[in-house]
Amino acid sequence: MRREPKDAAQEETLDPKDWDALRKLAHEMLDDMLTYQQNLRSQPSSSPSRNAVNEICVPLTQEGEGEEKVYEVFQQNILPYTMPHTRPRFWGVVAGTGTPYGMLVEMLRAGMNGAQEAFLAEAHVHAQVIKWIKEMLDFPEEAGGVLVSGGSEANFTGLAVARNAKANVDMKTKGVQKLNQRMTLYCGDETHHCLERSVELLGLGNEALRWIPTDDNCRIRLDALEKAIKDDKKRNNHPFCIIGCAGTVNSGAFDDLKALAGLAKRENMWFHVDGAFGAWVKISNTHRHLADGMEDADSLAVDLHKWMCMPYSIGCTLVRDRLAHYSTFVYGHEARYLKSAFDQVEDQITNPHSLALPLSRNFTSLKAYMLLRAYGRRKYSNIIQQNIDQTNYLAEIIESDPKMEITAPVVSNIVCFRYRPKALSELELEKLNKSIYSDLNKISFWMVSDTTIKGRYMLRACNVNHRSRKQDIDFLLDEVKRTGKRIVSQTNP
Ligand SMILES: Cc1ncc(COP(=O)(O)O)c(C=O)c1O
Repeated sequence: MRREPKDAAQEETLDPKDWDALRKLAHEMLDDMLTYQQNLRSQPSSSPSRNAVNEICVPLTQEGEGEEKVYEVFQQNILPYTMPHTRPRFWGVVAGTGTPYGMLVEMLRAGMNGAQEAFLAEAHVHAQVIKWIKEMLDFPEEAGGVLVSGGSEANFTGLAVARNAKANVDMKTKGVQKLNQRMTLYCGDETHHCLERSVELLGLGNEALRWIPTDDNCRIRLDALEKAIKDDKKRNNHPFCIIGCAGTVNSGAFDDLKALAGLAKRENMWFHVDGAFGAWVKISNTHRHLADGMEDADSLAVDLHKWMCMPYSIGCTLVRDRLAHYSTFVYGHEARYLKSAFDQVEDQITNPHSLALPLSRNFTSLKAYMLLRAYGRRKYSNIIQQNIDQTNYLAEIIESDPKMEITAPVVSNIVCFRYRPKALSELELEKLNKSIYSDLNKISFWMVSDTTIKGRYMLRACNVNHRSRKQDIDFLLDEVKRTGKRIVSQTNP
C-alpha cells in the first residue's frame, strides 16, 4: 500500500524539539564528566549492586524514556560500577587511562559524526598521524600505515598482509583452499593470544602457529626458532612469518628484534612485530634500545589507547611495503556506487579504506592528531619515562623486602612478584597469592592482575597509567604486605 509522506509538522527526526533543553542537559553532562575526571583519585571502585543491575537490564519501551531520565540511569547505575582503569591505582590488564582533553576531542568527532578518512581534511589528518607515528617509532619513512581499532586488529592487519605477500598462490583470488603447502608462523610462547586468533581468522589454522619456547628472560629462544623453521622446511611446509614481541603482555619482555629481523631476511620470511604497548619505549629516554630492530620489521602493530593514553579505541598497523598492504585490502570488485568518489582520492595507496577491513570508518585519527599536536612529543616521552621509573621503584622495593620476591625479569613497565613471607611450596605460594589477589580486587578491581609464567603463579602490576604517583606505588606495596600478613595469620593462628 502506498503511503503519503507526512506533513512537515509531523515528520520524525532524532534532532531535539527543544534545543535549549538539550543544550542545558549537554552543559550538565560536560560539567559532570569534567568533575568526575577531576575527582578520579577519590572515586570509589565498586561492583554493581543488585539495584544497579535491575536498572540496567530493563525491557525496551515503545515510547522511550527521554534523554534526562536515561542520563540519570548512566550516572547512578552505570558509571559508578564501570571498570576503574582511569583511576591512579589501576595496574591490572594493559588498560589506558584516557585524558580529559581526549574526552573533548571525542565529543568533537561525535559532533561531526566523523566517518570517513579518504577525503578532504580527514585524509590529511590520517596521513599526518601515520607520519608522526612512524617518526616517533623510528619506522622507515617509505612505510605506509593505517589506524585501526586496537592491538588485536593491528596484528590481524599485519598478518593478513604477511600471508598474502608470502603465499605461493594468489590469496586474493584462490584463497587458502589452493595452498599446496602448509604456511607456518613462529612466535615466542609469551606472545599475546590475539595473534593466535588472527592466524585462525586468516584461515591458516592455529596449528600453523608454532609457539617457540622462551628463555629465562621470557624472550623467544633463537636456537629453538631456527630448529623449528628447519624442521618445517624438511616436512615441506612453508615457513613464512616470524612474529617478534616488543613488550610481552605478561612481563613486558622484548625479543631480540635485531636477531629476528636478520633471521627473517635470511629465510626470506616476513617479520611482524607486536608492539601493542611496548613499542613506545622508543620515545623514552632510557629504554629505547629495547626496541632496537623494530625498525627492520615488515609490519608493526601498536596501540594508542594503552600507553599513549588516548581514548578507546585506537591502534595502528605500519607496513614497510605499501603496495603489499594496499594489494591485500583493496576491493577485488569495484563498488560502482563509490567509484566516482574514490577515483578522486589523490593517493589510492594511502587511502585508509584500502588498508584495513572497515569501509565505514570512525574518524579516529582526529583524536590522535589533536592530542599529539596539543601535548607534543616531549610530554608523551615524559609519561612513558615516568611509568618506567615508577616500575623500577616498585621492583627495587620488592627486591629488597625479604617477604616478597620478583618472579620475572623487570624490563620495562611490568613487575611480576609474589608475597613470600617464609619458605613455602609452589602450591602454598599460589594459594596465598591467589587470596591476596582476590582481596586486592575488593579494594579496587584489578589493582593488579595475576598470571602464570613458566607454570608459576604470580601477581602482576602493569604501569601505563599517567595518573599514578609514587604514593600510589607505596599504597600498593603496603596493601600487599598488610593483606598477605593478615591472610597468613588467619591461616596459621
Ligand atoms: C602485547 C599485546 N598485544 C596485543 C594486545 C591486544 O590489543 P587490544 O586489546 O588493543 O586489542 C594486547 C592487549 O593487552 C597486548 O598487551
